[in-house]
Amino acid sequence: MITAVPWLLSLVLILVALTPRSDGGGQGNQWCIADEQTAADVLQVALDWACGAGGANCSMIQPNKPCYLPNTVKDHASYAFNSYWQKHKHQGGTCYFNAAAMVTDLNPSHDACQFESLP
Ligand SMILES: *[C@@H]1O[C@H](CO)[C@@H](O)[C@H](O)[C@H]1NC(C)=O
Repeated sequence: MITAVPWLLSLVLILVALTPRSDGGGQGNQWCIADEQTAADVLQVALDWACGAGGANCSMIQPNKPCYLPNTVKDHASYAFNSYWQKHKHQGGTCYFNAAAMVTDLNPSHDACQFESLP
Protein backbone atom coordinates (compact mmCIF):
# COMPACT_ATOMS: atom_id res chain seq x y z
CA MET A 1 0.00 0.00 0.00
CA ILE A 2 2.67 2.49 1.03
CA THR A 3 4.93 1.47 -1.87
CA ALA A 4 2.06 1.69 -4.30
CA VAL A 5 1.67 5.44 -3.80
CA PRO A 6 4.93 6.59 -5.44
CA TRP A 7 4.34 4.09 -8.23
CA LEU A 8 0.87 5.46 -8.89
CA LEU A 9 2.21 8.99 -8.72
CA SER A 10 4.82 8.29 -11.39
CA LEU A 11 2.20 6.63 -13.56
CA VAL A 12 0.00 9.71 -13.31
CA LEU A 13 2.95 11.97 -14.11
CA ILE A 14 3.83 9.90 -17.17
CA LEU A 15 0.22 10.00 -18.39
CA VAL A 16 0.08 13.76 -17.91
CA ALA A 17 3.32 14.15 -19.83
CA LEU A 18 2.02 12.03 -22.71
CA THR A 19 -1.36 13.76 -22.96
CA PRO A 20 -1.47 16.28 -25.80
CA ARG A 21 -1.86 19.76 -24.41
CA SER A 22 -5.01 21.62 -25.16
CA ASP A 23 -3.81 25.14 -25.75
CA GLY A 24 -7.29 26.54 -25.43
CA GLY A 25 -7.25 28.74 -28.49
CA GLY A 26 -6.12 26.60 -31.36
CA GLN A 27 -2.83 28.46 -31.29
CA GLY A 28 -0.41 27.48 -33.98
CA ASN A 29 -3.05 27.01 -36.65
CA GLN A 30 -2.21 28.65 -39.91
CA TRP A 31 -4.04 29.33 -43.14
CA CYS A 32 -2.95 30.36 -46.60
CA ILE A 33 -4.88 33.28 -48.11
CA ALA A 34 -4.67 35.67 -51.04
CA ASP A 35 -2.46 38.69 -50.49
CA GLU A 36 -4.55 41.88 -50.48
CA GLN A 37 -1.94 43.61 -52.63
CA THR A 38 -2.24 41.19 -55.52
CA ALA A 39 -4.18 42.28 -58.61
CA ALA A 40 -7.38 40.39 -59.38
CA ASP A 41 -6.18 39.12 -62.76
CA VAL A 42 -3.04 37.67 -61.17
CA LEU A 43 -5.16 36.05 -58.44
CA GLN A 44 -7.48 34.61 -61.06
CA VAL A 45 -4.60 32.85 -62.81
CA ALA A 46 -3.36 31.42 -59.50
CA LEU A 47 -6.90 30.43 -58.54
CA ASP A 48 -7.42 28.57 -61.81
CA TRP A 49 -4.13 26.75 -61.33
CA ALA A 50 -4.86 25.84 -57.70
CA CYS A 51 -8.27 24.38 -58.58
CA GLY A 52 -6.87 22.59 -61.63
CA ALA A 53 -3.36 21.19 -61.71
CA GLY A 54 -2.77 22.23 -58.10
CA GLY A 55 -5.35 19.75 -56.86
CA ALA A 56 -7.10 22.11 -54.41
CA ASN A 57 -10.62 21.08 -53.49
CA CYS A 58 -12.67 23.98 -54.86
CA SER A 59 -16.12 22.44 -54.41
CA MET A 60 -16.98 24.89 -51.60
CA ILE A 61 -16.55 27.98 -53.79
CA GLN A 62 -18.98 26.79 -56.46
CA PRO A 63 -22.40 28.52 -56.71
CA ASN A 64 -24.75 27.67 -53.81
CA LYS A 65 -21.89 26.28 -51.69
CA PRO A 66 -20.95 27.81 -48.30
CA CYS A 67 -17.84 29.62 -49.58
CA TYR A 68 -19.32 30.99 -52.83
CA LEU A 69 -20.15 34.28 -51.12
CA PRO A 70 -18.59 36.76 -51.08
CA ASN A 71 -18.15 36.07 -54.78
CA THR A 72 -14.83 37.83 -55.27
CA VAL A 73 -11.64 36.58 -56.86
CA LYS A 74 -9.79 37.36 -53.64
CA ASP A 75 -12.12 35.31 -51.44
CA HIS A 76 -12.24 32.39 -53.85
CA ALA A 77 -8.47 32.48 -54.31
CA SER A 78 -8.00 32.44 -50.52
CA TYR A 79 -10.14 29.34 -50.23
CA ALA A 80 -8.34 27.59 -53.09
CA PHE A 81 -4.85 28.58 -51.88
CA ASN A 82 -5.64 27.29 -48.40
CA SER A 83 -7.06 24.02 -49.70
CA TYR A 84 -3.96 23.52 -51.84
CA TRP A 85 -1.56 24.37 -49.03
CA GLN A 86 -3.24 22.24 -46.35
CA LYS A 87 -3.15 19.32 -48.74
CA HIS A 88 0.42 19.70 -49.91
CA LYS A 89 2.34 21.55 -47.18
CA HIS A 90 3.93 18.36 -45.87
CA GLN A 91 5.04 17.34 -49.35
CA GLY A 92 6.82 20.58 -50.17
CA GLY A 93 3.79 22.60 -51.32
CA THR A 94 4.21 26.25 -50.40
CA CYS A 95 1.85 29.12 -49.72
CA TYR A 96 3.42 31.30 -52.36
CA PHE A 97 1.66 31.35 -55.75
CA ASN A 98 4.16 33.79 -57.24
CA ALA A 99 3.75 36.04 -54.21
CA ALA A 100 -0.06 36.15 -54.62
CA ALA A 101 -0.51 34.26 -51.32
CA MET A 102 0.47 34.70 -47.69
CA VAL A 103 0.27 32.70 -44.47
CA THR A 104 -1.95 34.00 -41.67
CA ASP A 105 -2.65 33.03 -38.05
CA LEU A 106 -6.17 34.45 -38.30
CA ASN A 107 -8.87 31.95 -39.19
CA PRO A 108 -10.51 33.19 -42.41
CA SER A 109 -13.60 31.00 -41.87
CA HIS A 110 -16.93 32.81 -41.85
CA ASP A 111 -20.49 31.63 -41.35
CA ALA A 112 -20.79 28.13 -42.81
CA CYS A 113 -17.61 28.57 -44.83
CA GLN A 114 -14.87 26.68 -43.03
CA PHE A 115 -11.23 27.01 -43.99
CA GLU A 116 -9.47 23.87 -42.79
CA SER A 117 -6.20 24.00 -40.91
CA LEU A 118 -4.47 20.66 -40.61
CA PRO A 119 -1.60 19.93 -38.21
C1 LIG B 1 -14.02 18.27 -51.40
O1 LIG B 1 -14.60 18.90 -50.28
C2 LIG B 1 -15.94 18.50 -50.06
C3 LIG B 1 -16.48 19.35 -48.93
O2 LIG B 1 -15.64 19.36 -47.82
C4 LIG B 1 -15.97 17.02 -49.77
O3 LIG B 1 -17.29 16.61 -49.55
C5 LIG B 1 -15.36 16.25 -50.93
O4 LIG B 1 -15.29 14.89 -50.62
C6 LIG B 1 -13.99 16.78 -51.25
N1 LIG B 1 -13.52 16.18 -52.49
C7 LIG B 1 -12.34 15.61 -52.57
C8 LIG B 1 -11.96 15.08 -53.92
O5 LIG B 1 -11.56 15.54 -51.62
